[in-house]
Amino acid sequence: MGVLTWKNGVYLLNGQPYRIISGAIHYFRVVPEYWEDRLLKLKACGFNTVETYLAWNVHEPKEGEFNFSGMADVASFIELAGKLGLHVIVRPSPFICAEWEFGGLPGWLLGYEEVRLRCSDPLYLSKVDHYYDELIPRLVPLLSTNGGPILAVQVENEYGSYGNDHAYLEYLRAGLVRRGVDVLLFTSDGPTDEMLLGGSIGDVHATVNFGSRVEESFSKYREYRTDEPLMVMEFWNGWFDHWMEDHHVREAADVAGVLDEMLEKGSSLNMYMFHGGTNFGFYSGANHIKTYEPTTTSYDYDAPLTEWGDKTEKYEAVRLVLSKHGFYPGCDFPEPIPKVAYGKVVLSEMAGLFTDTNLEHLSDPIRSVSIQPMEKIGQSYGFILYSTYIQGPRQGQQLHIQEVRDRAQVFLDGQSLGVIERWDTQPLDITVPANGARLDILVENMGRINYGPLIRDPKGITEGVRIDNQFLYDWTIRPLPLAPEMLASLSYRPVTDQGQVEHVELSMPKSVRAGLPGFYRGCFPVEDIGDTFLRFDGWTKGVAWINGFNLGRYWNAGPQKALYIPGPLLRKGENELVLFELHGGPESCEVELSDQPDLGQTAAVDEAVLNFVQVEEDK
Ligand code: GLA
Repeated sequence: MGVLTWKNGVYLLNGQPYRIISGAIHYFRVVPEYWEDRLLKLKACGFNTVETYLAWNVHEPKEGEFNFSGMADVASFIELAGKLGLHVIVRPSPFICAEWEFGGLPGWLLGYEEVRLRCSDPLYLSKVDHYYDELIPRLVPLLSTNGGPILAVQVENEYGSYGNDHAYLEYLRAGLVRRGVDVLLFTSDGPTDEMLLGGSIGDVHATVNFGSRVEESFSKYREYRTDEPLMVMEFWNGWFDHWMEDHHVREAADVAGVLDEMLEKGSSLNMYMFHGGTNFGFYSGANHIKTYEPTTTSYDYDAPLTEWGDKTEKYEAVRLVLSKHGFYPGCDFPEPIPKVAYGKVVLSEMAGLFTDTNLEHLSDPIRSVSIQPMEKIGQSYGFILYSTYIQGPRQGQQLHIQEVRDRAQVFLDGQSLGVIERWDTQPLDITVPANGARLDILVENMGRINYGPLIRDPKGITEGVRIDNQFLYDWTIRPLPLAPEMLASLSYRPVTDQGQVEHVELSMPKSVRAGLPGFYRGCFPVEDIGDTFLRFDGWTKGVAWINGFNLGRYWNAGPQKALYIPGPLLRKGENELVLFELHGGPESCEVELSDQPDLGQTAAVDEAVLNFVQVEEDK
């Protein structure tokens, strides 16, 4: 398909001038059955290239255990793109930001307290090397120099926004070359002095990222690189959402105008995102500028293709601008994927987290004098339960959690005492009877920070728990990673059905489950498979699984009001839906499977966000 080089400010493909018109689609945010559909929709819009990050934590979920199958089968994604006639840009990095858990770094890295991230720290580099030894040989046959579709590979991601260790960038570059990567290498950074200074290295092609102010951004770039081709490696045409905020939208006409201007100037580009997809499982990241802000399950991004793969007004606007500049659709737009309203599903069975033997089935307890964060006990994602016994009597005191990451529910003798959140760390009033009480603290990891100086973000409780000034010791710690196979061992009982329960001892009155965490299960039949949306009205906060696949988090804090369920996750016949609800399900115990998405109330993307100078303020 051709090898990419550059000369006199122009990209050359097999020696001929070439413009890269790329769109970002992350294979790890789309079920593999839909990769072809999304790639064809990219081609049908006039794009000639697809760009994807590679997420280290997806490929090495446990240290030394690699995963390159299913949604992690990146080689198949790249091959497919090539087969469909698209070029590919890959960004292994190893850090990717991307609103992805820990910017793609594996949580287990933080089990090494001494590790220093994203620099020439020998320990960090040894872990990167181990990963690259597995990963890069899978990419080498797919390079354009070997007849494959990969045109270019990124060395690090916006490194200038984080550090200035050029020896680290050189090490990564050399590591790619040594393992056989002989296509064009590049870095990408914001168009500011410090970012370009920190993030670029001498003989590696530098590219820039921005969403607006084309002229200003390119002139800054030209101060540093006078003869390299103009390439916007990330043209932000929308934006991502945090929980507790509105859904971001950016006008199609605005995006079309900026695109037109870029193309007018002869630039190449990668539209970030062309199709955002979904942060399935526990993989959504978070930002922390002034406070901790967790990212939603949807990564719709207000991109030209929606989270569920429909085209938008923006898609049409982009297609028209691309055509105007001679980049025409390379194929027809595929047939739409049907959406189905399966209706109400009653989650008629429940397994309380604290009842029966459920905890024993979910977790092997660890005894520890002091509190330990997740990573110290070998856990990366999910929840963690800390339990201890407090002597009484104690009157009118206050319970403090020193460094909660990220949201703790506190229970005293099985009764809810309240919630302490990383963004609201108010202590809780506590009174302990003379014979003492059991204290349980359930902490949710809501996603490690993926951008900025605070990316080292261990989870659980990192310092300790105090009553007034007195630290509590002697803990039982239960990791709750909630892997699908663990859920199979839960003991479910029917939820009380207004007195119609046959065996009284098997019933579970509302008062028992009210406010307490538990798993709710229900089944529903499917005849015609299509995409659907899980509305969680009436439920508070938790995680949902369909047929054992983790769909991600739901939360009534919004903006998102429904979780996307791609059709390939359903099967003909009976389907099983499980919700781990942290605050007790609604009376009806129902959810609705609708044919309508709902990303919630919208707000315009602030122009300042799209201009790199202020992005750190607004991310
Ligand atoms: C930067 C990063 C991307 C992503 C975008 C915002 O440009 O490089 O990974 O985080 O910001 O969506």
